[in-house]
Amino acid sequence: MKPVKIGICGLGTVGSGTFNVIFRNQREINARAGCDITIAQVGARRDNPACDTGDVSVERDIFAVARNPEIDVLVELIGGTTIAKDLVFEAIANGKHIVTANKALIAEFGNEIFAAAEAKGVSVSFEAAVAGGIPIIKAIREGLAANRIEWLAGIINGTGNFILTEMRDKGRAFADVLVEAQELGYAEADPTFDVEGIDAAHKLVILASLAFGMPLQFDKVFTEGISNIAPEDVAYAEELGYRIKHLGIARASQAEGVSGIELRVHPTLIPEKRLIANVDGVMNAVLVKGDAVGPTMYYGPGAGAEPTASSVIADIVDVARSIHADPSHRVAHLAFQPEALSDINILPIAEVETAYYLRLAAQDKPGVLSQVASILSDDGISIEALIQKEANEGEEVVPLILLTNRVVEKALMAAVARLEDLQAIEGSVIHIRMESLG
Ligand code: HSE
Repeated sequence: MKPVKIGICGLGTVGSGTFNVIFRNQREINARAGCDITIAQVGARRDNPACDTGDVSVERDIFAVARNPEIDVLVELIGGTTIAKDLVFEAIANGKHIVTANKALIAEFGNEIFAAAEAKGVSVSFEAAVAGGIPIIKAIREGLAANRIEWLAGIINGTGNFILTEMRDKGRAFADVLVEAQELGYAEADPTFDVEGIDAAHKLVILASLAFGMPLQFDKVFTEGISNIAPEDVAYAEELGYRIKHLGIARASQAEGVSGIELRVHPTLIPEKRLIANVDGVMNAVLVKGDAVGPTMYYGPGAGAEPTASSVIADIVDVARSIHADPSHRVAHLAFQPEALSDINILPIAEVETAYYLRLAAQDKPGVLSQVASILSDDGISIEALIQKEANEGEEVVPLILLTNRVVEKALMAAVARLEDLQAIEGSVIHIRMESLG
């Protein structure tokens, strides 16, 4: 078969990893593709010492790659939603297939990009956009095609998981670990995307669309980051048998009389005995519950040069195999055929039902606990576990930690507001959502 010629745009961490792995594993990759995959051109504004491009032509104007008639597949590894978006649309207009690791681009503009690609008869592949080296897109889109997906929950930001793990295990400071994650090439150009959950929200939206058959709806995700997680909450959670993980969760609502999909990213207490509670460092994991298969879990490195390159190259191999196939025989971009996607209601966070961890700073005097219990019970919230700690030296308040039953968020927030109004409660009530993931 004719060689498939690719143009790699962007020679950063993932671009150089992709270049290097293609050269190193050329024999295996070509044998799997059934044809030679040739890097015909690289588009990069600057060289990367991690990558010797040898005699491959390097073009400083990346748009020249999108216009190069020799190129079959444009591999977009620039990131962001400005230049990368223009580049992808230009390449599609010129009849190139696209392989990208760009989750922001797919999450925010995927609907338009897929429509343009379908009109032009080319494909857009994005395995590397979610969970780095884990082939989670293929697993949901193809491996679980028989199932009605009930929910999925994932640790889908390596930087955030690395930070939480180092803070828990080594007592390191948040800022110090973040710098290390940046040096290791895990973090986004703007690391607030990692720690405030935006990166995870991008990935969650993609997974949810594949799982539930709906268009991408990034603006509907509820997002809360990890920057407010206090070390004492990590410790109290452990004492109660839980770990705090930053999860992306998509679930068909289970609340009575409520129909819709929950889409949320937030710190979550999960029982420490769950496999996913023990996923540490830069590793990612995604749990997917299908009605036929039951719970399944996918685990692997969620960031880094070669793990992400592994997914990029898997997509290149897929495109090479089907490049001459009738476009209508390709796997649909969002798993469901475009005309079968439906605009399912996304639930606002106020309507979501979960259990909660609450931490209150309570004055150490008789009757406070009963006031707290009566406010909660007025809102139909029951206490499933409780610990009261000694006051820290020199302080007059004691930490009171409660775990609640499952309750709709708006009821919990109403109770929290009333608790914060109590004279015996100081400051704000810390509340962290909990999931059993069973
Ligand atoms: N910044 C991302 C992460 C890179 O830490 O997971 C992979 O998408």
